Amino acid sequence: MSGLLEWIAGATAGWADLYGSSSAVETAVMFLHLGGMVAAGGLAFTLDRAVIRSGRGWPHRDDLARELHASHGVILLGLALVFVSGIALTASDPEIFLTSWIYWAKMAAVVLLLANGWFLKGWGDRLRAAPQDEGVFRGLRRAALRSAALWAVSLLGGIAITMYA
Ligand code: HEM
Repeated sequence: MSGLLEWIAGATAGWADLYGSSSAVETAVMFLHLGGMVAAGGLAFTLDRAVIRSGRGWPHRDDLARELHASHGVILLGLALVFVSGIALTASDPEIFLTSWIYWAKMAAVVLLLANGWFLKGWGDRLRAAPQDEGVFRGLRRAALRSAALWAVSLLGGIAITMYA
């Protein structure tokens, strides 16, 4: 085991013991992880679907752009809960998770999801300024398609970790 991993395991041993011996703590952490994911992922999926379904010249794009902007804070709050609980989950057994290629593949998907979210917000803000700009709308639609796919891959990664790691 690498020196760094040994150090992390030593630093998180107290938390790993508590997590492993208390169903209440385990339940609370997993609730934050899945709850944050349902809140952020559920809202993101709903908005991605609305963007993907609204075709050329759709009249309510300014409403859609306003809704995208208004939902950004809730999605970030949900993701913050997913991250904090995700770190707590990782610290519950770092030797297993940090040496799992599935874990790192999931983390790569999560990083891409966040990067895409930044671009999606950018296209959404541009759509607020120019609702009938087809070029801006095409950019937003591609970002929404990527967002839906990356949420699905992150979810798959999370389930695969529990099954294979
Ligand atoms: C969009 C982002 C994410 C999604 C959709 C997601 C989803 C999931 C799901 C569905 C599970 C399985 C839960 C279960 O067993 O019932 C899970 C487990 C896990 N997640 Fe995430 N997750 C995300 C981000 C993160 C992040 C950022 C981290 C680390 C910082 C993380 C660390 C973990 C770990 C370690 C487990 C395994 C827990 C265990 O087996 O006890 N996740 N995740």
